Amino acid sequence: MSVLEIPIRKLNTGASVPGIGIGCASNERTPEAFRATKPWILNAIQSGYRHLDTASLYGTEESVGLAVKESGVPREELFVTTKLPWSHTSIFWKSLYDSLDRLDIDYVDMYLMHSPMSWKYIGDGFELDKIFPRDSDGNALLLDHPNFSDTWATMEMALATGKVKAIGVSNFSIKNLEKLLETAKVVPAVNQVEMHPLLVEEELLQYCKSKGIVVVAYSPTGFSDVLTLPLIQKLAEKYSTSAVQLVLSWHIARGVIPVPQSTNPGRQLQNLTLPVLEAEDVKAISSLDQGKRLTQKIDEKDGKLWGAWTAEQLGW
Ligand SMILES: NC(=O)c1ccc[n+]([C@@H]2O[C@H](COP(=O)([O-])OP(=O)(O)OC[C@H]3O[C@@H](n4cnc5c(N)ncnc54)[C@H](OP(=O)(O)O)[C@@H]3O)[C@@H](O)[C@H]2O)c1
Repeated sequence: MSVLEIPIRKLNTGASVPGIGIGCASNERTPEAFRATKPWILNAIQSGYRHLDTASLYGTEESVGLAVKESGVPREELFVTTKLPWSHTSIFWKSLYDSLDRLDIDYVDMYLMHSPMSWKYIGDGFELDKIFPRDSDGNALLLDHPNFSDTWATMEMALATGKVKAIGVSNFSIKNLEKLLETAKVVPAVNQVEMHPLLVEEELLQYCKSKGIVVVAYSPTGFSDVLTLPLIQKLAEKYSTSAVQLVLSWHIARGVIPVPQSTNPGRQLQNLTLPVLEAEDVKAISSLDQGKRLTQKIDEKDGKLWGAWTAEQLGW
């Protein structure tokens, strides 16, 4: 197979960002599990990844910072993203400086608002009750202020500190981007959203491109829901690759930056060794779209995401 040269994308800030990143979430939420992520994050850097995607609420910022140091790769050759939790919107500056402390690096290349939702802050920590605070009846503790437009204005101020080289959003729909842009002085550099062949998001992608916003795809493999589809299997065979490699190449062909996560050295390397797809195959993979979310799903019983926002509020 001819191997794709992973592109370098340009952000609206003028900065460059590697066209694939390594997802750095932890599969389990214990301090031991968080610490156990360092070796595979370090291995990813040693294997050639130069773009690392973490978040305050993943519990892996410390591991990412340690891996960056131990790798010996000059800081300016790495692109590090972290994210403001939805439950930290009311303590923005503390949350940002806590992230920088945990990472123990001078600056992040990208700071994302993790969600358009704003939840109450009830204390530090990575426990789920801190991330999704609820009252005694189990209702989500949501804030009207700061809303995402207010938070964005604070993020714009953070740019001036030099601790944050670019700012962006995550889980934003066209509807919420339009609202954000009504008052924004700075256009988000990135919108990180769930995206895979069952959730192609063509309209959102074209909208973001028209505004100069780079789209980053999370859950980019689409898991077994995507990987076992007959067309995916057939095309993987045609290109003599795995289904994951095929799907990652599809993202790149669409101008999207996937951030696949793998803790496995062999699969990390595989995910950097991608086939060059014919245009008609890119189109065929896109035609698998079902608008189906696999990671952030609306609960059928209450019609909400995490008991908080409805599909309408999210613009889904
Ligand atoms: N902004 C947000 O709200 C948000 C939400 C979710 C995720 N994210 C980001 O996106 C990243 C990735 O998302 P994700 O973990 O949900 O989905 P993903 O990267 O699509 O899937 C990860 C799974 O795929 C497996 N895998 C990876 N490469 C493979 C390969 N070549 N062959 C076979 N299996 C392979 C991994 O297993 P092994 O580890 O065993 O290889 C792991 O089980 C996260 O780490 C995080 O950085 C962001």
